Amino acid sequence: MDFRTPELDRLATTMPESYFQLNTADARERYFADTRMLDGKQLAHNRFRTNPRTLVDHLVEQMALAGHERWLDVGCGNAFIAEQIRPHLAEGSITGLDIAPGVLEAARTRMAGVATLCTWVEGSADDLSMFAQESFDRVTAIYMMHYVPDIDTCLREVARVLAPGGRFILTTDRPDSMVEMFDAHYTAMREMNAPEHLFKATPKARISLLNGHETLAAHFSAIELRTWQDQLRFASVGPFLDFYAAHNYCCAASAPGDDLETGFFTELRERVGEHVQAVIDERGFFAVTKFTGSFVCQ
Ligand SMILES: C[S@@+](CC[C@H](N)C(=O)[O-])C[C@H]1O[C@@H](n2cnc3c(N)ncnc32)[C@H](O)[C@@H]1O
Repeated sequence: MDFRTPELDRLATTMPESYFQLNTADARERYFADTRMLDGKQLAHNRFRTNPRTLVDHLVEQMALAGHERWLDVGCGNAFIAEQIRPHLAEGSITGLDIAPGVLEAARTRMAGVATLCTWVEGSADDLSMFAQESFDRVTAIYMMHYVPDIDTCLREVARVLAPGGRFILTTDRPDSMVEMFDAHYTAMREMNAPEHLFKATPKARISLLNGHETLAAHFSAIELRTWQDQLRFASVGPFLDFYAAHNYCCAASAPGDDLETGFFTELRERVGEHVQAVIDERGFFAVTKFTGSFVCQ
């Protein structure tokens, strides 16, 4: 499935890489303080997708599980993914590590009572010293590596805890993934002369599908990129705005703690909503194209 078009490529050039930065501590403290943002995004990614193969289908393929592996998921979030992968690990174990206690609590609640051995650990992915060398057969880092303060140390640690013959799967996206949404957002922000610091959306350019190979090559001898694309389609503006509101700072609902008045975010949301409505009126839906995938490393 390839959703790439010249129009999307053109849109991508309107967003400089400098937009895709964000203080990682801020992301953790504000954004992942509880599970609501993650819940909202996961629901929309699933409900509005057009690729019949889900992200979990993609991950299951990359993980190539026999059923008895010891799996470490760094940045496990609320275990939305672990819950769906767990049946493939009936005889194995799941260790979820996350820096944010709020989402970790949601993971614990979600997985309570399942027979697969689950362990939840609070910590940062660049310090895996609580785990013995070669103690996992699979390690995953799903849409989280860009938040880790010291990516190189994290990858060295992952290589240390991975058992011989094991796999590390780094799932991430291209910086221009979901370009239609970011373009609507930044266009409205420019029209409103928004302050400079609000032009930061996510730290994902730190390690992406474009530059990940280079960073991984220092730690793994075999690296294969497997892409997985999707296109979300919203036929009404309300659910799109909920999805938009669930993105780091890129939203009207989560003011980043500065002194801008709520009126600013209300107007931003209205402007983005008007743009999206105009596209829906013309085309029947507003598309959000995802360029994403995984590096499978050994
Ligand atoms: C976008 S969410 C992805 C969650 C989950 N992997 C998924 O795909 O549903 C990013 C997660 O990384 C976690 N995180 C951020 N920085 C981290 C760090 N340094 N170490 C471990 N987890 C971190 C956040 O708390 C959050 O749960």
